[in-house]
Amino acid sequence: MPTQLPGLPERVAIYEVGPRDGLQNEKAVVPVEIKVEFIERLVSAGLRTIEATSFVHPKWVPQLADADVLIRDLQRVDGVRYPALVPNERGLDRALALGVMDIAIFASATESFAQKNLNRSLDGQITMFEPVVRRARAAGLSVRGYVSMCFGDPWEGDVPIAQVTRVGRQLLDLGCSELSLGDTIGVGTPGQVHALLRAFVDVGTPVEALAVHFHDTYGQALSNTLAALQAGLSTVDSSAGGLGGCPYAESATGNLATEDLVWHLHGLGIDTGVDLEALVRTSVWMSKALGRPSPSRVVQAMSKGE
Ligand code: HMG
Ligand code: MG
Repeated sequence: MPTQLPGLPERVAIYEVGPRDGLQNEKAVVPVEIKVEFIERLVSAGLRTIEATSFVHPKWVPQLADADVLIRDLQRVDGVRYPALVPNERGLDRALALGVMDIAIFASATESFAQKNLNRSLDGQITMFEPVVRRARAAGLSVRGYVSMCFGDPWEGDVPIAQVTRVGRQLLDLGCSELSLGDTIGVGTPGQVHALLRAFVDVGTPVEALAVHFHDTYGQALSNTLAALQAGLSTVDSSAGGLGGCPYAESATGNLATEDLVWHLHGLGIDTGVDLEALVRTSVWMSKALGRPSPSRVVQAMSKGE
């Protein structure tokens, strides 16, 4: 029986990142037919925004080198968004040629990760993104902006809040309609989440424009999600089965598992539109394809004996 807590949203929009953030970090290259089926199963389970792939350099992320084939082969369903990561104009050209309607650029809050992930400085990343957002918006695309390393960085340690809000504001000023705040290495705790979200609101960011993206390295992702919902957010990123990581941040493990998130939200009486049993069946199927069990506690609990 769901039991509500005061001050939480009635509905949460889940932004599913498994096919992109999850599979970009798999050692084995997953065949494109399996990726297509994975996305189609996620749609059948009720997810309505599914980050499908990345138009990055194939040498940087070989696991997603099939992005063009994947988007070509995917049967797109009306009402479902299939955003893709795009770092630069070359990536945008590829996305536009395939009729992609939603893209995401991805910035770093720290100099070290900007260099390692994008081969750019903090200012250089913004220079790279500027024509991407301008051209994408002119072509009618929606653009999400990620900020990585919002709560800690493996090379620089603590990250000052003002540094995070500065990069976030730069992305919004470029024309991003949504900002996803990433705990790339999963070290943050709820007090930090509260403080960062308050800082964004204090610099004039509407809370509706904010989303959170937690990796679950230290087991804090659900507590952090609750802190974000209490601060007024209603868009949360997660990855089916808890797949995930970042190839350029070694201490990053899987994202918050979508099943764990859905269990949590439904228990609070919050609507997600997701059929949890269908989602668990999808993650069990995917874990067989990957040859290892899902790290999600909810997947494990609901699939005993399979
Ligand atoms: P670069 O080496 O500086 O690239 O990489 P460049 O601009 O100097 O170009 C070099 C060559 O690459 C050129 O070819 C380009 O055409 C080609 P050449 O003229 O030498 O023959 N090239 C491309 N080819 C295909 N697609 C492209 C592309 N761009 C250039 N898009 C670059 C710069 C940004 C491309 C590279 O650093 C890169 O691809 N980085 C991506 C890293 C990545 O995908 N990381 C994981 C995603 S981020 C993440 O997971 C965090 C997140 O989940 C949030 C969180 O958890 O915090 C989002
Ligand atoms: Mg991530």
